Amino acid sequence: MPKSMTTQELRSAYIEFFKDKGHTHYPSASLIPENDPTILFTVAGMAQFKDMFLGRGSHDFTRAVTCQKVIRTNDIMEVGRTPRHHTFFEMLGNFSFNDYFKREAITWAWEFLTEVLDLPQERLSISVHEIDDEAYDIWTKEVGIPEDRIFRMGDADNFWPADAPSAGPFGPGGCCSEIFWDFQNNDNPNDNLTSGSDRFVEVWNLVFPQFNVAEPMNDDGRYTLEELGRQNIDTGMGLERIACVLQGKTNNFDTDEFQQIIQHICKLADVVYVESAENEEQKQVNTLLRRVCDHVRAVSFCINDGAIPKNIGRGYVVRRLIRRATLDIDKLGVHETVLYKIVEKVCGVMGAAYPDILKRQELIEQTLEAEEAGFRQTLRKSLDVFAKCLEQHRESKSGHFSGDDAFELVTTHGLPKEVIEDLLEKESISLDEDQFQKRWDEFIKISGGGPDDVFTSTALQEAKPRLGATEFIGYDNFSADVELVLLEKDGDEVESADTGSKVRFALSPTPFYAEGGGQVGDKGVVVGDGFKIDVTSTEKDDQLFIHSGTVIEGVAKPGKVQASVNESLRVASQANHSATHLLHSALYKIIGDHVSQQGSNVGPENLRFDYNNPQAPKKEDLQKVEDWVNAAIQAGHDVKTQVLPIEEAKALGAKAQFGEKYGDDVRIVTMGTADVSLEFCGGCHVSNTAEIKQFKLLKDEASSAGIRRILAVSGDAAEQLEQAERDVATRCAELLGAETADVGQLPALAQLLKLQTDGLIERLETLSAEAQALADQVNASVEISGNLLVERCQSLQKQIKQLRKLNEEAAGNKAQEAVDDIIAAKRDVAGHDFYMGIFDGVDAKSLKQVVDAMRDKLESFCIVLGSNNNGKAALAVAVSADLNEKGISAGELVGQLAKAVGGGGGGRPDFAQAGGKQGDAVQAALEHSHK
Ligand code: SER
Repeated sequence: MPKSMTTQELRSAYIEFFKDKGHTHYPSASLIPENDPTILFTVAGMAQFKDMFLGRGSHDFTRAVTCQKVIRTNDIMEVGRTPRHHTFFEMLGNFSFNDYFKREAITWAWEFLTEVLDLPQERLSISVHEIDDEAYDIWTKEVGIPEDRIFRMGDADNFWPADAPSAGPFGPGGCCSEIFWDFQNNDNPNDNLTSGSDRFVEVWNLVFPQFNVAEPMNDDGRYTLEELGRQNIDTGMGLERIACVLQGKTNNFDTDEFQQIIQHICKLADVVYVESAENEEQKQVNTLLRRVCDHVRAVSFCINDGAIPKNIGRGYVVRRLIRRATLDIDKLGVHETVLYKIVEKVCGVMGAAYPDILKRQELIEQTLEAEEAGFRQTLRKSLDVFAKCLEQHRESKSGHFSGDDAFELVTTHGLPKEVIEDLLEKESISLDEDQFQKRWDEFIKISGGGPDDVFTSTALQEAKPRLGATEFIGYDNFSADVELVLLEKDGDEVESADTGSKVRFALSPTPFYAEGGGQVGDKGVVVGDGFKIDVTSTEKDDQLFIHSGTVIEGVAKPGKVQASVNESLRVASQANHSATHLLHSALYKIIGDHVSQQGSNVGPENLRFDYNNPQAPKKEDLQKVEDWVNAAIQAGHDVKTQVLPIEEAKALGAKAQFGEKYGDDVRIVTMGTADVSLEFCGGCHVSNTAEIKQFKLLKDEASSAGIRRILAVSGDAAEQLEQAERDVATRCAELLGAETADVGQLPALAQLLKLQTDGLIERLETLSAEAQALADQVNASVEISGNLLVERCQSLQKQIKQLRKLNEEAAGNKAQEAVDDIIAAKRDVAGHDFYMGIFDGVDAKSLKQVVDAMRDKLESFCIVLGSNNNGKAALAVAVSADLNEKGISAGELVGQLAKAVGGGGGGRPDFAQAGGKQGDAVQAALEHSHK
């Protein structure tokens, strides 16, 4: 019986076994192949050892054992549906670099499987290449494999890379021999490796890379196999498959590490996973769970190694995996951002084997969360657009769903094609695939960046082979006597171009740097015999440098010229370029070793640097980055460039530039020591970091999901900026009453300002509280005094009333008291008794009382009373009946008197009263009345 082992025990057992056989345990290479533009991801354990097989490698060992992380996405649609497909998996491998060969590889593999893992020999079968008698003999004669369990096959099955001798690719390769496990899931005696059933599953591939596959093709339809003169071994055993065998499972996803992750997903989605499910619904749930598990594992390791979601290249693979996993977990009923919650489990399970993933857990979670959330948002919007398209489709009654619409949904609205297909399938509608494909092909052609405009002219293309690679002499020269070897105008090669012509031309050699590695191309002038060209840009088509510009004097012609680069622009670009390298190192050291360059643009004005980080770095970290760069500038490190074989450069630890392809020999730029900065770079630099003068980070902002963009300046521009800041500092210091005015002191000034401002705010708050309290008090007192006033007024009015009453009473009394005096002062007017009384402050009512009192005492009378009552006049007249008879009437009399006091009135003959406005006229009026 096979030994029962956990996946981690298996990794260790394998590595220990081969260490015992003299192998160096070498770590897994990154999933992102370094300096190998031929592949997007590391697809095999041997990828990092290609040069070692060819004899150019720099490692000092000849035997290595690895457990290699691998991504293969060609069978992505099969993942989860089959028991053994994965996008991310691990390969156990042992390698010999011109050391041991087939015998050891075969016998050790057999020993490991049958003695360490205790696999029963009778359940193992072997395949070898039909031309490989050597391997066949070792298996049959030395190991003792019976002939009915060893099969000879062709290039497709037993050559690595598969099919290489008959179909390419060229390069190192060799025959291989595979070891199969018999799952015994049927008892058909005729079933074997050649019958294509799933009963026999390959677990280990032993490759013998001893050839270089090269032209010509021979009569047998196979390319020439040149002996490398080296005997190499490259083996690969899928860890998941062998774990499945050892753990007695039939599906890789049922093994321990997968199950821990799957059970975690089950909890998040509130579903169950049932091993060997029969029921269709459960089978579907299982498939979704396996896929989510696979994709999140893959994405976690990709992000860990620096491949983050993007719209192109490997970033697109990552994006696609996240989108598929989102759709899958959504189908499991989780409609919110959730995938990032699986990362913790992936890290927990796999951290023992890959400790670096534990350090990046947060980064992975944040990247995944942002990407899933963004996708879910896109999805919601794009599903609305899809619904509208579907409606239109129904109205149009056309057979297929429009390929144009589907194309727009995918490219403009971000709805994955598989989602569209899924939705259409549910509606039983088919997609117009031809139309879609047509649009898609056009799109790929355009977005794939067909040849740039500058390179489309036939003249340039035809001249390329003739002119070959342009020699660049501008690292050390800004100006040189060179040859103008090609002149092109309006797309044609010409012998001359007049003043004003826009031209493109090639020089041999050239001091002009052609745009590349992020650095902009040079500008300058080219002066020939009687002509001058203003050079506005320099670009590169493969190895041919193409200068563009305008003839500003004379007639330009091929021949000898003096080519001069605009020195000040170039010097500024050089400072920015060197500063970019230092910035790269600083970010790596301070923000984290996950940081890698994602693009840059270095010109004379400034520098732009893109790097991967899911979040904005902390302010203080950015300050540290700026400080580190400035310290490196001040340290005055010498800048050295070297051209080395790529392997040597890699061994020195040089950082590669993103998106650049490298040849066998590469240029590296070192500033001080490798620890300060060491990069692959073909660009132009200062010769000592002190020439950069100053570095100033202007801003750090999000550029796209997971990518930050830094904008910075160096050299004079940074110094000018510093000066401007110094001016600000001086002004601030003045305003704040501080003594210092140094830029370095700006933070302190800011602090001071803050303190003052903080104080201000507090004071304002206090003042405002005090003001409020005062206002409250005022309000209250206004309220109080208002109330008091009202009361006081009321009581005063009361008092006034009382007083007035008293006064009137007093006046009335006084008037009564006056009756006798009036009677005593009787006058005789025309033989009649005439009585007159003048009062002060007596009202009409009291006058009447006086009249009444007098009437009682007299028989024949004419009484005239008047009062100045607070400025108004009151009159009362009474005439006895006998005098009435003589024609004297009280009414008439009062009427006349009233006129004299500004009033009017009248009344009965015996008694009449009147009022007037002029109280002070009463006396005169009355005194006049008896005359
Ligand atoms: N290169 C071979 C493979 O990937 C063996 O490691 O299968």
